[in-house]
Amino acid sequence: MLVQKYRENEIILADARELAKYVKPNSVALTVTSPPYRNAIDYTQHVTNLKNSGNVWMRGTGEETTEAYLDTMQQIFEQVFKVTKEGGFCCIVIGDEVVNGKLIPLPSLLLSRLVNYENEDDPEKWRFRDMIIWHKVTSGRNGAGNRFGLFIQFPYPSYFRANIMHEYILVLQKGKARDDIVKTDEEKIPLNRIVKRELANSIWNIPPVPPRSVKHPVPFPEQIPWRLITLLTQKGDTILDPMNGSGQTTKVAYNMGRKYLGFDIKKEYVDEAKKRLKQVPKLSDYLIPVFYKESWSKNVQGGFFETTEVDLSPNIPKSYKFLFRTESDKSIKGQKGVYAYYKNQQSNYLCFVIGATGKHSRLNLGNVQDKGSMLHDVIIKLPKKQFIKAELNKVLETRIVENRQPVKACIDVLLHLNYVRLGDKEGQKQYYELTSKGKSLQQRLK
Ligand SMILES: C[S@@+](CC[C@H](N)C(=O)[O-])C[C@H]1O[C@@H](n2cnc3c(N)ncnc32)[C@H](O)[C@@H]1O
Repeated sequence: MLVQKYRENEIILADARELAKYVKPNSVALTVTSPPYRNAIDYTQHVTNLKNSGNVWMRGTGEETTEAYLDTMQQIFEQVFKVTKEGGFCCIVIGDEVVNGKLIPLPSLLLSRLVNYENEDDPEKWRFRDMIIWHKVTSGRNGAGNRFGLFIQFPYPSYFRANIMHEYILVLQKGKARDDIVKTDEEKIPLNRIVKRELANSIWNIPPVPPRSVKHPVPFPEQIPWRLITLLTQKGDTILDPMNGSGQTTKVAYNMGRKYLGFDIKKEYVDEAKKRLKQVPKLSDYLIPVFYKESWSKNVQGGFFETTEVDLSPNIPKSYKFLFRTESDKSIKGQKGVYAYYKNQQSNYLCFVIGATGKHSRLNLGNVQDKGSMLHDVIIKLPKKQFIKAELNKVLETRIVENRQPVKACIDVLLHLNYVRLGDKEGQKQYYELTSKGKSLQQRLK
């Protein structure tokens, strides 16, 4: 008799509609996935562009009907159901779609296929456990999400449409609670500020992955699988992504000591996900907002900010000492933001960016010598010649260029450490790379 050999810790080139052939029934603790963006992206064209060495994605043609799309997704999530263990979860990251300016509520349509609202105990359907809104913080004002643009041209009543700044994370559960959770101190989730003020709520603030930093048109941020794996699984559990793309889920799962399984129908994405599997997670590249109770001025709605004193002490790890502070380059309505820097004994740097309203976020800059750190990332890409700060984003080919704050923070620390020097010519801030005995910075770091 032929015994079926199930797969584990693999990224597999296969159609997810057949995944139950490969995965042991009732074995997966958590699925984190995002279905294809039907109308927004043409994956085949993106893969062709990749082969021609351009990481440019193409807009989809939107030829597939909504019903056909939902049929495929239903088949995939029925397969996921079969392989999920009792009490296990399936988290689907999906947004409403805009077709010719009209909104299609894909998340609700998909939910109505997967959940039996009349009978919560239906043994063949998922239970609807939670709905989290992924607030994309910095995205939505450009591209397909921009709907307010028209209103700017016709700012009259009734022309308004909102920019789409969010997607949903549908949290589904199979059956009743798991009975195999180990309740040791090690598995306890620390109830720190981020958990209590951010993860606790139904809105998660996570900036998207900067464009073209990964060879996939629509990777979700590593924060998403990281948060869900932290909150819903324990060490040794199996994590699945049936539409794994660039492999954000499998990479984070591997790095968190979980077993992983990824599927995709495009060989190029399977290869890319395998390549990225063991890379260090880049969670700290993206801002983790730490919200603080703000004392808003009565005039906020009129557009005036008040300067808020922010007590950062609860957020600073004990081993870090305050170093110095700088101001943001630009001001908003006359108020400048503050950058506060901290360092520990291992020379790891931490920066808190505090906005004019008192909202602040944390940047883990790391150690200059540490190859995975933001500081190292910036320093090895600094131009050898004198450069003007305003042009830094052009000359720095780093994946964090899309975000000004980490670059400014790194430059501030490098100035502090005398790795770069500040000049001032014709009123413009200019920087010079300092050389040591004729050696460039890059050589000094090798
Ligand atoms: C939105 S992307 C996933 C991106 C992924 N979450 C990441 O972070 O990179 C959807 C992926 O589903 C894949 N896909 C589409 N249909 C599929 C199917 N039937 N089986 C497996 N993968 C499929 C596409 O090739 C694409 O890479």
